[in-house]
Amino acid sequence: MRQVNLGIIGGGTVGGGVFQAIQRNGPLMSCRLGVQLHVARVAVRDLRKKRAVKIPAALLTTDWQSVVADPAVNLVVELMGGTTTARQVVLAALKLGKPVVTANKALLSAHGEELFEAAQKSGANLYYEASVAGGIPIIKVLREGLIGNRITRLYGIVNGTCNYILTRMKNEGADFGEVLADAQKLGYAETPPDLDVDGHDAAHKTGILASLAHGFWVNPKQIHVEGIRQITSLDIQFATQLGYTIKLLGVVKQNETTTGPKRNGCAPVQVSVYPALVPNSHVLASVNGVFNAVFVRGDVVGDTLYYGRGAGQDATASAVLSDLADAALDLKCGTKSRIPPFVPHERDGTVLPMDEVVSRYYVRLNVVDKPGVFARIATVLAKSKIGISSIIQPEGHAGETVPVILMIHDAPNSAMRNALARISKLGAVKGEPVMIRVESFE
Ligand code: NAP
Ligand code: HSE
Repeated sequence: MRQVNLGIIGGGTVGGGVFQAIQRNGPLMSCRLGVQLHVARVAVRDLRKKRAVKIPAALLTTDWQSVVADPAVNLVVELMGGTTTARQVVLAALKLGKPVVTANKALLSAHGEELFEAAQKSGANLYYEASVAGGIPIIKVLREGLIGNRITRLYGIVNGTCNYILTRMKNEGADFGEVLADAQKLGYAETPPDLDVDGHDAAHKTGILASLAHGFWVNPKQIHVEGIRQITSLDIQFATQLGYTIKLLGVVKQNETTTGPKRNGCAPVQVSVYPALVPNSHVLASVNGVFNAVFVRGDVVGDTLYYGRGAGQDATASAVLSDLADAALDLKCGTKSRIPPFVPHERDGTVLPMDEVVSRYYVRLNVVDKPGVFARIATVLAKSKIGISSIIQPEGHAGETVPVILMIHDAPNSAMRNALARISKLGAVKGEPVMIRVESFE
């Protein structure tokens, strides 16, 4: 095989980026691979739509089925998004024995097991480098580079939109809604952007990374997800004063202790997404804007870090091109599934329930400024066996209520949640307490 004909489904931000990148670096890739990548057809929804990246009209169609079925197309690239038609596209291509490249993390999160099984049955491969962390080749890192390691910790800033919003809120005091609109204009955000700001996109990606790291497919329903809507500029300011930066983190942790709980012979794995206070001394605190970073600790290699643009046309196109190269080489060499899309290796693995996850916390309360209030709050925490590491009542907040910041020692999530529910009922505490986890990266 000297030429691979691509059928691309989707000519939007990512599809347009892939088309453009092939025009730009196709000759370079064909030199490196000994195979030419040729865009044969592109399916879109609306032929009359104005496109930032021009795709010749002769290549365009609205009929994805005809693209997938076209005998001249040997590789299908799903870049349309969503989980319904996209699932049909991938299954139809695999059924025809055609390999598929996708950037669709929502699709993998919802239907990964079914799609991997279909790939295995058909003998055609499914490639998904662009589904996590934009241009960072993190899927290759976990599947190949770190194959000889047990992964004990993985922390990821894996949503470019949220990181862009949090960075601009911190650096410019910018308004959440305005920055989100900018992220949409720049092509970073999902449709709808709630997928980003409510943490679901990060959960799709964290689930994929956790599944690869631990060898069992993580059910998305078991991932604890919190987004960034509740993060206020007041919390960002207090975090800064305390030496922290707030980041939306995907967290995958396995504590392999002899005394800890084990289920089915394996230590359960924490898989969660939440905003966290990251100490400014930690490298993840300085990952700004649309950049993503994934910190991975392996038992052989130790700590490693991967950094790059996490969203947008070119970064994502770069990851798709890397999959196109792998797929083209597999087609050229007849090695259809050199590395299958997902190989279960810890089939009995389980996800640690969030209630059992232990962490440190930042808590902000609005309290009536009168004697005895701290004592009542401290009593509730003490009864729940929760220790306070510091209490701060920042000056200069005169009014009916004042903010109080509590930094809390390690405590299980369930105990913390119950204690806060009781604290919120105290007469002197107004409004809902704000609770943000503090990550220590131990
Ligand atoms: P997008 O700009 O909305 O593009 C979607 C494309 O799919 C459009 O060209 C649209 O056609 C086409 N399409 C939708 N339904 C179709 C149908 N039924 N038949 C044929 N074509 C159809 O989205 P995107 O940002 O490129 O994202 C695409 C995928 O990449 C998603 O899975 C997303 O999660 C993932 N991803 C995106 C980024 C990013 O930074 N944007 C990064 C990593 C991964 P029209 O153009 O005619 O509307
Ligand atoms: N909406 C996603 C993000 C795109 O902002 O990270 C990249 O996957």
